[in-house]
Amino acid sequence: MNTISPELINEIRSSVDIVDVISSYIELSPKGRNFFGVCPFHDDTHPSMSVSKEKQIYTCFSCHATGNVFKFLMDYENISFIEAVKKCADMANIKLDVKVNSFDNVNNKYKELYDIYDQSCKFYQNLINTKDGLEAKEYLHNRGIDENLIKEFKIGLSLKERDLLTKFLIKNKHSKEDIIKCGLILDNNYGVSDIYSNRIMFPLEDLTGKVVGFSGRIYNTIDNSKYINTKETEIFKKRELMYNYHRAKDDARTKGYVIVMEGFMDVIRAYSVGIKNCVATMGTAITSNHANILKRMAKNIYLCFDGDSAGLKATLSCIEELDKVGVIPQIIRLEDNLDPDEYIIKYGKDKFLEKIDNAMDIMDFKMAYLKQTKDITKIEDKTSYVEEVLKELSNFDNEIKKEITLKKLSFDSGLDIEFLKDELSKIAIKKEPKKEEEKKVEIRKTGLEKAEIYLLYYMLKNKDIIRMYEKKLGFMPDSEYRILAREITSYYKDNNSFELADFLTYLSSYPNILDTLSKVLSSNLKDEYKIDDIEGYIHKINNAILDDKIDKLKHKLDETTDVDKQAEILSQMRDLKNKKIES
Ligand code: GTP
Ligand code: MN
Repeated sequence: MNTISPELINEIRSSVDIVDVISSYIELSPKGRNFFGVCPFHDDTHPSMSVSKEKQIYTCFSCHATGNVFKFLMDYENISFIEAVKKCADMANIKLDVKVNSFDNVNNKYKELYDIYDQSCKFYQNLINTKDGLEAKEYLHNRGIDENLIKEFKIGLSLKERDLLTKFLIKNKHSKEDIIKCGLILDNNYGVSDIYSNRIMFPLEDLTGKVVGFSGRIYNTIDNSKYINTKETEIFKKRELMYNYHRAKDDARTKGYVIVMEGFMDVIRAYSVGIKNCVATMGTAITSNHANILKRMAKNIYLCFDGDSAGLKATLSCIEELDKVGVIPQIIRLEDNLDPDEYIIKYGKDKFLEKIDNAMDIMDFKMAYLKQTKDITKIEDKTSYVEEVLKELSNFDNEIKKEITLKKLSFDSGLDIEFLKDELSKIAIKKEPKKEEEKKVEIRKTGLEKAEIYLLYYMLKNKDIIRMYEKKLGFMPDSEYRILAREITSYYKDNNSFELADFLTYLSSYPNILDTLSKVLSSNLKDEYKIDDIEGYIHKINNAILDDKIDKLKHKLDETTDVDKQAEILSQMRDLKNKKIES
């Protein structure tokens, strides 16, 4: 791969405006010199992220996320650094002669694992195209999965013989240990053998599109396990995998919605009829990790799980998980216990799209669910139905929705709406008063630490302060601040200028320093400063350094009995004390 020079990277960075880029993902409103929006990197509903047009960086005062336009794109879209640079270059119409592939960001530590999955995937893909693959192809074709889809989703085949992949990988110089680690071969008393045999192989890709495992499906045999998934490894965590994410994300963003399904077959089916903004989990419940990814994918989230009772339960638990990150999804329920795959085959694309248009909001869904599990012609059931709906409603903030739901409930139960309103307000009173938002516990910083942070803040802002630091201090007592200060001064020297947004690119390979930098930036100081204040910080830090030296001398003094030495130490101490007064 061609490399891009740091100069070109900086040029690309400065050719786009971070405010434009971020506001195409989240809503930003101007306030003073900066723009503010709800931070997408933590659970929040308050606009705690500030975006500075002047500095071309963003900072969240709550979770301390900070960075330049590249970092934002990388974290928001789960893409590599090179991909983020390429994206910006495209926006700025700068021709960039690099091939972006999904291996750019591969952590060297796991390179071997990624290689094995990549080669195995190609191995299985080759096999499905041989005459041994005819029956599997026929199975797929019968399910409406044509050649294009087979290629797009990299579908392959494992044959009956249980040593083919093992031999292939060993021949390609992979160690037995690594292949076992990948969960593709089994080591037992009789030697090693392939785990997958006679199954259609669906590669599982991570958020960036790299293969990290497989799901193998039976197609011409009967077996207890319809699917066998690769075991979890350092790079494959079921709780994190979101099938089809990397293909779906752009479409989800332009369409403004994403559909979550239960199985990857459903996603492939939807894709086959041109509905490409669908993702699936690996047959597990939605985790908080999934919820956060979904939240960033699109404004509207539709849950379209299987029409059976398991799908119903999955929907309820997913609603709960999404609620924790402040997302309220809409629900699509399919009749006759169908899954999306079967539904689309039976009724076609248009009917499915109609389902999306007529999706239920969660209150309607919950009412339907409660009604389904009760017989509301019976007084006991009707009572608990009304009670449970009112309980759900008491969590609602939207008054209009409340009113609409109460009308429906009144219709369902035959009870007067005023009576229901009364009952609802009783629940509201009984409920514990909402916990006041936990006040952030600002770790109380010592005067010294504050001085270090404030000085660093203005060094990042103004070259004069960098020079002042070098001339008057050149040192900070706390090592994390010292390291950051050192990086700032040497970056300034090397580049003869200091552009904070580019400095952030440079720091991207030093996560610890970046953490310190976030801490400094999120101290949210005024951009204007008085030189007296800066002098004050320097003064304070300088005195702390001197105090420390004096302390050390005191220890030395206690340790020695030699009179001459004592006199020398005392004189050194006096000198230091004098310096303190001078400064
Ligand atoms: P098809 O039967 O091929 O249409 O698949 P499906 O999408 O209808 O599968 P189903 O609804 O039965 O299951 C949904 C998801 O659960 C699948 O995509 C798998 O991830 C997972 N799953 C289903 N069956 C098995 C199994 O036997 N073993 C494992 N490990 N996972 C399974
Ligand atoms: Mn199915």
